[in-house]
Amino acid sequence: MASHTILVTGAAGFLGSHLCDALLAEGHTVLGVDNLSTGNTANIDHLSAEPRFRFLEQDITRAFDPGRVDYVFNFASPASPVDYTRLGIETLLVGSAGTINTLDLARKYNAGYLHASTSECYGDPEVHPQVETYWGNVNPIGPRSVYDEAKRFSEAAVMAYHRYHGLNTRLVRIFNTYGPRLQASDGRVISNFMIQALREEPLTIYGDGSQTRSFCYVSDLIDGILRLSRSNEHLPVNIGNPDEWTILECAREVLAVTGSRSEIVLMPLPPDDPARRRPDITRARTLLGWEPKIALREGLERSLEYFRSSVAFA
Ligand SMILES: NC(=O)c1ccc[n+]([C@@H]2O[C@H](COP(=O)([O-])OP(=O)(O)OC[C@H]3O[C@@H](n4cnc5c(N)ncnc54)[C@H](O)[C@@H]3O)[C@@H](O)[C@H]2O)c1
Repeated sequence: MASHTILVTGAAGFLGSHLCDALLAEGHTVLGVDNLSTGNTANIDHLSAEPRFRFLEQDITRAFDPGRVDYVFNFASPASPVDYTRLGIETLLVGSAGTINTLDLARKYNAGYLHASTSECYGDPEVHPQVETYWGNVNPIGPRSVYDEAKRFSEAAVMAYHRYHGLNTRLVRIFNTYGPRLQASDGRVISNFMIQALREEPLTIYGDGSQTRSFCYVSDLIDGILRLSRSNEHLPVNIGNPDEWTILECAREVLAVTGSRSEIVLMPLPPDDPARRRPDITRARTLLGWEPKIALREGLERSLEYFRSSVAFA
């Protein structure tokens, strides 16, 4: 890609900050936007001396115009169950008004647009593994609906701007991703287990631990997203690691990597917790030539230092 001016919303978050790093490494100029509701400037502090990076503190649910941009990556949204439960209305708003505002911006400057959607669009799936053509099994009024339905509205909005206005859009359905800068106490599986293990506290499993998840290391995810941004695919593409782990197996991997002697305890399952999640990545393989490279054990090892320092500074 030639050098472009790129807007990244959610830039102070886990994925947004890694995306900014990758885009800067490719030679682009990056404008990072974030309202710091769940993000942290610590994730982008290392970019403060970078002349091609600028940060704008801005709530994207309010219309804004930072000037000409060539591409918009829309990553702003509370993402962990702890955050979107606490910020339910804000989550609905960022996935509706926020998405429309960023689509309008892309339209104004005739910019490309990539939206960070989610495997949560599939809800508690009846189709396994999940293919992009599956419409999902989502409870529209349950506690997770503030997130799931906002993300489904965003997908509808992105497709509408593509169909009605010819906007050059992309939709990535991200499956569980982890790595350095994942919020330490946000209730997601890997962060919970790593922090509990490093503190020698019991690892809490909700349910009997037989529910499965797939975990994608962050560098693999960013590679897939950059490939998608350069492709001509307008329909959703799953990006995630199809290696399926039970939550119990994952807890054991974390114990092995951290060398922790923590025990594993079982807690009641929260409502609407999906039983199985695994991406079918045939489309990503075929369209983008993309494949995850980092296995769970290696990804956990690469994340260990980060979680160690999170525990030390907590
Ligand atoms: N991490 C994952 O496994 C995963 C999986 C599926 C989808 N996603 C999606 O990827 C995106 C990034 O997720 P993440 O894991 O980095 O979460 P994160 O919470 O670390 O980052 C989200 C960022 O968005 C910002 N934000 C929230 N509302 C905003 C608003 N109104 N205006 C401006 N900024 C706002 C937050 O302050 C935060 O910095 C989200 O859209 C999320 O839904 C993530």
